[in-house]
Amino acid sequence: MSDETFDLVVVGGGPGGYTAAIRAAQLGMKTACVEKRGSLGGVCLNVGCIPSKALLQSSELYEEAQHSFEDRGISVGSLKLDLKKMMGQKDATVQGLTQGIEFLFKKNKVTYVKGAATLQGGGRIEVTGDDAKTLKAKNILIATGSEVTPLPNVEIDEKQIVSSTGALELAKVPKKLIVIGAGVIGLELGTVWRRLGAEVTVVEFLDRILPGTDNEVAKNTQRILKKQGINFMLGKKVTGAKKTKTAVTLTMEPAKGGDEETLKADIVLVAIGRRPYTEGLGLDDLGVETDKAGRIVVDSSFKSSVDGIYAIGDVIDGPMLAHKAEDEGVVCVEKLAGQKPHIDYNTIPGVIYTWPEVATVGKTEEQLKEDKVEYNVGKVPFMANSRARANGFTDGFVKILADKKTDKVLGVHIIGPDAGTVIHECVLAMEFGASAEDIARTCHAHPTLNEAVKEAALAVAGRTINS
Ligand code: FAD
Ligand code: NAI
Repeated sequence: MSDETFDLVVVGGGPGGYTAAIRAAQLGMKTACVEKRGSLGGVCLNVGCIPSKALLQSSELYEEAQHSFEDRGISVGSLKLDLKKMMGQKDATVQGLTQGIEFLFKKNKVTYVKGAATLQGGGRIEVTGDDAKTLKAKNILIATGSEVTPLPNVEIDEKQIVSSTGALELAKVPKKLIVIGAGVIGLELGTVWRRLGAEVTVVEFLDRILPGTDNEVAKNTQRILKKQGINFMLGKKVTGAKKTKTAVTLTMEPAKGGDEETLKADIVLVAIGRRPYTEGLGLDDLGVETDKAGRIVVDSSFKSSVDGIYAIGDVIDGPMLAHKAEDEGVVCVEKLAGQKPHIDYNTIPGVIYTWPEVATVGKTEEQLKEDKVEYNVGKVPFMANSRARANGFTDGFVKILADKKTDKVLGVHIIGPDAGTVIHECVLAMEFGASAEDIARTCHAHPTLNEAVKEAALAVAGRTINS
């Protein structure tokens, strides 16, 4: 039997891979996407972005019903948590969205191949699993994503010691939850289980949370989450874990050295980062170059060291974010089709979906200082925003950093209600090279949370009206 031949075979059906496959098909390429998970959408839709946001939303509603409704004159009587049903809503959301991608594949004539792909050289891809066969491709795009970084001596069993995947599926609310790592996953999933009733302690190696995030924003986030009931143990190195049937005891010591301490919980979540995933692809045999961290090395067209093999998303350098993977997928196949798209890595937003949310784009103050760039700061608190006051969520601020000479917006850092939505006008402004004055002169509807952005832009020139 002759091999099935395609213009492009995408390996991995996550946000990067499935988006690239659809765009390639739209551009007229005969395209297949190989996915071994059994469903499309990758980590993001199946065990990442989407299930975590479903649980963040449900747990926030539960929290508000407990603590905020009464103040607004809404009495709901005694509240009861039905965790099974909450998990059911999450699972149904995931199922609906992943099946939606199968529909999009059919609509755009992308061939969905179920199985694990190994690259054989010469454009041949061997697929094992449900749709076992050999494919032939002019070009291959690797979008195999990432996996959890393991922690030595703290072995994940997805029951008592869990990764994010297990933490999205706990059958009951733990009494005590220890989260190792004060990064994005640790804070989002720590928040979920704290709201549902767990006592949560976050243990972090560094002496700060959210490394890489603007210092002032990170400090405020820690203060607000502490006020919400999350405990932080910073500067601690976890050295091991001992399990009994009902508990896990972690041993740790100060990162700078010192006496060992122990901490006990019923569940431990390991969230110390993710690493690129290339297992089983056969990259070494083909001579595809990877860096020290295991990421596939690519050029500005996403081409690897081997002709005809490209890579995007979590498996290459850059922030491990779904929207970054998607944009790279589109840019990669449009370049293959001879177009000249571009991607600006300085304007990729990052959002942490705690409440309040944290949203950032562009340079932090620390980066600007390091680069010796002179800048002005415009900062206003949500306390001065009428919509935030009416909504009853006034924690946080908007901070705009603009070039001292040109007034060009260099970075925006927001902690506050719906920060992840509010930031997008700043992302667009930066994409178009706008100045703080451009934002300040843009008419903003009243009363909206985005008026805080306008006010912060005015603050850059020291002429706020409402704060
Ligand atoms: P992936 O989504 O990892 O997809 C890769 C796919 O390739 C997988 O489905 C895998 O099964 C498949 N695959 C691997 N090897 C093979 C092979 N040999 N053959 C066939 N198939 C293969 N990002 C955000 O932007 N916003 C968020 O809110 C957010 N929340 C997150 C929450 C959690 C708990 C986690 C873990 C991550 C979250 N992320 C979020 C990160 C986001 O999920 C990733 O950045 C994104 O999924 C990367 O997309 P990708 O296409 O590169 O890879
Ligand atoms: P992370 O890189 O965000 O945070 C890991 C944290 O663990 C850091 O603070 C780090 O200093 C700490 N750490 C590392 N080793 C440690 C150790 N041995 N002991 C204690 N602490 C240690 O990684 P995280 O939270 O696992 O998330 C992985 C990726 O998933 C992130 O890169 C993120 O981009 C993505 N993600 C994005 C989300 C979003 O966009 N909202 C949500 C969840 C995940």
